[in-house]
Amino acid sequence: MAINVLIIGSGGREHALAWKLKQSPLAGRIYAAPGSEGMRDCARPVPMGALEFDKITDFCAGSDIGLCVIGPEEPLAKGLADHLASKGVKVFGPRRQAAMLEASKQLAKEFMRRNYIPTADFQSFYDPQPAKEAVRANKKWPLVVKADGLAAGKGVRVCPDESTALAAVEDFMEKRIFGSSGARVVLEEFLEGREASVMALCDGKDFVMLPVARDHKRLRDGDEGPNTGGMGAVAPVDLDAETLEKVRVDILGRFVEGLKKEKIPYCGVVFAGLMLTKDGPKALEFNVRFGDPETQTVLPLIKSDLLAHMLACAEGRLAGEKPEIYDGSCATVVLAAAGYPESPVTGAEIRGLDRVPPGAEVFHAGTVFDGGKFKVNGGRVLGVSARGATPSEARDRAYKAVVAISFEGMRHRRDIGI
Ligand SMILES: Nc1ncnc2c1ncn2[C@@H]1O[C@H](COP(=O)(O)OP(=O)(O)O)[C@@H](O)[C@H]1O
Ligand SMILES: [Mg+2]
Repeated sequence: MAINVLIIGSGGREHALAWKLKQSPLAGRIYAAPGSEGMRDCARPVPMGALEFDKITDFCAGSDIGLCVIGPEEPLAKGLADHLASKGVKVFGPRRQAAMLEASKQLAKEFMRRNYIPTADFQSFYDPQPAKEAVRANKKWPLVVKADGLAAGKGVRVCPDESTALAAVEDFMEKRIFGSSGARVVLEEFLEGREASVMALCDGKDFVMLPVARDHKRLRDGDEGPNTGGMGAVAPVDLDAETLEKVRVDILGRFVEGLKKEKIPYCGVVFAGLMLTKDGPKALEFNVRFGDPETQTVLPLIKSDLLAHMLACAEGRLAGEKPEIYDGSCATVVLAAAGYPESPVTGAEIRGLDRVPPGAEVFHAGTVFDGGKFKVNGGRVLGVSARGATPSEARDRAYKAVVAISFEGMRHRRDIGI
């Protein structure tokens, strides 16, 4: 029996999910809410916001949705999975209680500490005065200051000295530049190393680790310029067997053991942000959903049926699933708008989408279909992914597709995966 799927979200991550799920022999109709015109080939857009819980539940009942896949963190943190489950809809995406492990850095750090997950030392604070005293007493610099709650990737500052750290505490806790997300802060030891990220499918009892990825957060080549939502990614990252095993056992394994011990139900993706330090891999944070752009890089590497794996998660039988992964690599290059990340310029017409060579996939992140043309409608506009036998082959294929596409002010990095 064909399974109808509803994907919540509208970005590159959701387009990649729709693209992959559409390939499943189990898939019936695939919808995305709100989705976008750019993903219409894979998923039919439905005009509903990710926070319109009642509309979403009614749609699931009315359209015989067999699985709802939730992309972004906000609906998860606000309890969309709980809402859907209470109406009998099968969901891939954790409930609110588990989603708090992403939505509160303090809860996450305490969970990591209780469950012996390697992570940076930290202290958490509920009031600005003691936080500032701790900053003044701090001896090791830099110090990392984190707003507790969701802040769209802007709530973490690596502070080189006392004055910048005090300013961060003031901005988060007193000026409340991220609202209630700054009601608490975490002060964290600075970890040195290269970053990587790993996603695992999880049904609350078992987990399956997907290839480790690395995204490129800085705007310009050579890791320069401001931080962005991600300018591209590659997978797999070349890790030695011992490191990979530590990531699997000490980080993902202990996370899932912790969920079980603390009786926190889980169904969805566990995403661990990693710092590869000289003392081994440590967890910077956990996210409770697919990462973006990593998803655009990792899903093309899954050979087996993702819908089958997701259904197995939702039905608590992941132990019986054996996802297959392609040999080789995948690279994703993000095409961003002029002015990104500070103030992206929208409206430019996108050319060349019909000239993209075979072997590359183009995922729409910030586009709108207007007057018969796709136009720029966000900071990160498109993600171009390609697989290859080697990292350089994957990269070459992705960049060959990139040169086919153009829009006014288009910017992208030329060193993804190097
Ligand atoms: N303890 C730390 N040591 C060094 N860098 C850190 C540390 N914590 C965070 N960072 C840097 O800040 C970035 C964002 O932190 P993270 O905890 O992933 O929060 P979020 O993704 O919610 O903004 C990380 O990707 C990393 O570059
Ligand atoms: Mg992060």
